[in-house]
Parts: sequence; structure tokens; C-alpha cells
Amino acid sequence: MTVQEKSVTAAPRGPAELKFGEQSSQFPVRSGTIGPDVMDISKLYKDTGCFTYDPGFTSTANCASRITYIDGDEGVLLYRGYPIDQLAENSDFLATCYLLLHGELPTNEQFVAFRKTIVNHTMVHEQMTRFYTGFRRDAHPMAVMVGVVGALSAFYHDSTDISDPGQRMIAVHRMIAKMPTIAAMAYKYSIGQPFIYPRNDLDYASNFLQMCFAVPCEPYIVNPVLARALDRIFILHADHEQNASTSTVRLAGSSGANPFACVAAGIACLWGPAHGGANEAALNMLEEIGSVDRIPEFIAKAKDKSSGFRLMGFGHRVYKNYDPRAKVMQKTCHEVLDALGLHNDPLLKVAIELEKIALQDPYFVEKKLYPNIDFYSGITLRAMGFPTSMFTVLFAVARTIGWTAQWKEMIEDPEQRIGRPRQLYIGPARRDFPK
Ligand code: ACO
Repeated sequence: MTVQEKSVTAAPRGPAELKFGEQSSQFPVRSGTIGPDVMDISKLYKDTGCFTYDPGFTSTANCASRITYIDGDEGVLLYRGYPIDQLAENSDFLATCYLLLHGELPTNEQFVAFRKTIVNHTMVHEQMTRFYTGFRRDAHPMAVMVGVVGALSAFYHDSTDISDPGQRMIAVHRMIAKMPTIAAMAYKYSIGQPFIYPRNDLDYASNFLQMCFAVPCEPYIVNPVLARALDRIFILHADHEQNASTSTVRLAGSSGANPFACVAAGIACLWGPAHGGANEAALNMLEEIGSVDRIPEFIAKAKDKSSGFRLMGFGHRVYKNYDPRAKVMQKTCHEVLDALGLHNDPLLKVAIELEKIALQDPYFVEKKLYPNIDFYSGITLRAMGFPTSMFTVLFAVARTIGWTAQWKEMIEDPEQRIGRPRQLYIGPARRDFPK
């Protein structure tokens, strides 16, 4: 089956019938491979003169996709059908990128060719280095990322024609390859150190670590435990179905905008504390709690709606069970802290105790609030030497493959149309300007 063909079929229990006043309308119901059926309401307005109302799109599928599947009730995450824990254990990030982009795991030859293509693109145009000096040194690296990634479209004109499949693929390769370089440069700029060029002899995660932590005056030896952990963190964050930043990329791309600009939009969305900024917020919260004896106070605050406080790293729009990525992240966190001799880290103690208490508390149990991936990733990244302001940047590096694979799928989808939600207007009716 080609990418263009749809694997959706008419669901056996369709069509759906809607009775509205005297009128009755029928809507086809479509089944995917797994997961809930969808009622195709694209003709609803034409048939009934009504829109649907679904703030936050909790019940609305915006596209048909073959890339990632989540069952939030069961705590399942699959990339192209493969469970996330199996990929984290047996694959590496670049092979996962190939899988997300092409639909199948690469053969050895395909992997070698793919890696060669990616490493060909790891450097950025030298003139881009001057962009950084326009930012204040204390700028948040995510602010720098939004600007620099958006600016890629001003440097790589030969891959912005979205109607050309070859250019589309080059743009995707460029973004997978350049994102670690751009992110590491944002970090180096913020601490006043010289930029470190990529090293194409290293694997993806090791190269990123050396671009962040090497200095020109002494050799840098990559710790293999940290490199493997970072590679796993990249795999865990690589894609997550139609989340807020991916939907942003799709929506921006639906107008025909170039892929660099679309990914910059995705980065802006990811920055928010309810999305990619949550690991930074979770770590800040653990630091604020500080010691195990203060946990009950924070649990009580999280349950008190008037406090406006939420337990960061808990809860998820889709997972109403343990986030399968959080399990892998928790294991990775222990591995990193052990390798660095930090197993007595006081924040880890707070995190373990907080998790235990929250998982037994009726408020969290009833609302199905489980730890999400961000709960342990902050502690892990901090132990690796990353400042909190870089956490979301690392997320953006990893999510670039998800954004670009989903963008490419959308552009190649014959059903794709410009994204244009409707609204329930509750402002003033027409009135005349006072004379
Ligand atoms: N602490 C305390 N209460 C919570 C929390 C929390 N972390 N999360 C949700 N709740 C409560 C809400 O107050 C609400 O209670 P109510 O039904 O009595 O009004 C109920 O649980 C449902 O919450 P919603 O906000 O409706 O759930 P939604 O699906 O919209 O939000 C979200 C999901 C944004 C992730 C939320 O759980 C949250 O803010 N968590 C903290 C931030 C966080 O960790 N984000 C990371 C997400 S993972 C990622 O982006 C990689």
C-alpha cells in the first residue's frame, strides 16, 4: 500500500445517526487499524447548519495518520506499531528516526545510507553563527531556538518548495541533522563559551553531548552511559501522535508554509509549561519541595483548586494510566544517577516519595493522575549537566523527527486541507457605530 492510500475502512457499526429537531442526518463511521472509530462529520455543517463544539479537541480527530498510536487508558505507545519500551531497549535514535519517517525499521544498508545523509547536514551555514550574537546572553534558549530554526528558511532556499518530494525530504534530513547543532550553540552562547562544531564520527547523542560540554582547550571523552541515556530520552520524546506542538506544526503547514517555519511554530508551542516546559517545571517543583517531610503540604496544595497549584509531572491529556515512557525514564534516571555516583540525590528521594504518596492518594487515583515522562526526565538531565533552561530544548531536538514526519505525511495526504476551526460566537451582535 502506498503512502497516498488510506487504510481506513467503513466501520461495521456505522453510519452514525444524528437527530436534531425534526431533522435526521447520517454520518459515515470509519475504522482505523486499532483505536476508536471516528464519525466523519465533515458534512455536518452542510447538512445541519451546525458546528461541533470541542475545546481542546478532546473528541476530535483532525487527520488520519500511520505514524504513532497511543492507548491512554492502557498506557500504550507505539511508533509505526512498535512498543516504545522495545524501541528504547533495542533501537537507537537514528534508526527510530528512519522508522518514523519511512514506516519500517532500516536494513543495515539503509541505516548506513541514512546516517551518511544525516551527518552530511550536521553543520549550519557559518553565517548563522552571527544570528546568536543578536540575542542577549540571558535569553531563554527556547527563545533562541524559535528564532534560529525559523531563520533556517532564509538560508536553505533549495529545500522550501513543499511541492517537490525531493526538497521535502532534504528539509527533513536537514532539520534532524542541524537541530542538535543549533541547540548546543544556543547553550554555548548562553554560558559565553565558543561554539563546538559537530563531530560526524560520533553517534547522534554523543555528538550532542560533546557539542554541549566540550571546550577547545582540552579533550572531551563522552561517558557511554550518559550517551545511551540521552539516546533513549530522544527515542522516548521522538513522537507523540497529535499533541499540541505536532498539531501546531500540521496547522502551520496546512497553509503551505515552509517546513522550517512550521517547526519553529512547533517549538514555540512546545515551550509552554503544560507541554514541553513541564520537565523544567517538575524539577523546579521538586527543588521547591526540597525534603520528604514537606510533601504532604504540596499534595494538599495540589488538591486545593483555589491555590492554582498543580503537581508538575503528573497527569496527561491522553494517559489515564502510567505513561509508558515514564517507566523507561525512571529506569534511565536510576542508571544515570548510579553511573555518576549520585544515587543519594535528595531530589530523587523527594521524587520517589512523592510518586508513592500521590499514587495512593484518592484525589490522584480517582482523577487517574499518574506520573508522566517529565517527572523523572528533569532529574536525569540535571545530573547529566544540563541547566533547567535546556530541558525543553532537548525535547525539541528529539521531537523534530515527529514534527517533520507528521508534516510530511500531511503534505502527502490527498485529504489534506487548510486547517480552519470554527467557533461559537458569543460577542455582541451587529450594532451601529455611535454618531
Ligand atoms: N495536579 C493536580 N490536579 C491535577 C493535575 C495535577 N498535575 N492535573 C490535572 N489535575 C486535575 C484538574 O484540576 C482537574 O480536576 P477537576 O476534574 O476536579 O476539575 C482534573 O485533574 C482533570 O484535569 P484537566 O486539566 O482537565 O486535564 P487535561 O487533560 O486538560 O490536562 C495536563 C492535562 C495539562 C497535562 C494536566 O494534567 C497538567 O497540568 N499537568 C501538570 C503539567 C504537566 O506535567 N504537563 C506535562 C504533560 S506531558 C508532556 O507534555 C510531555
